[in-house]
Amino acid sequence: MLAEKPFLLSRNKPLSKREIAQALRWAIEAELDAISFYEQLAELIEDEKIRHVFYDVANEEKEHVGEFLALLLEIDPELAEYIKKGFREVEEETGIKAKL
Ligand SMILES: [Fe+2]
Repeated sequence: MLAEKPFLLSRNKPLSKREIAQALRWAIEAELDAISFYEQLAELIEDEKIRHVFYDVANEEKEHVGEFLALLLEIDPELAEYIKKGFREVEEETGIKAKL
């Protein structure tokens, strides 16, 4: 993941607020990818104890998504408004009411 965003590795000045938001989006992307990775592996493992550990780690990654998302919404309140708008549109169009 970081190899695809090398500018993060060689900076000599602090990230701007906009760059921090980008870093948080990349972090969320990495966590979501990790969840898929661990769950896909878990589904292939017959040993119940080992499979349980993979699902447990996947759940930890879900918490990490929440941590990074909380930070992202704090520094990018406009994103929070767009997310709320998306939730409202889904509810209006389908009746599905998403909750956090
Ligand atoms: Fe993580």
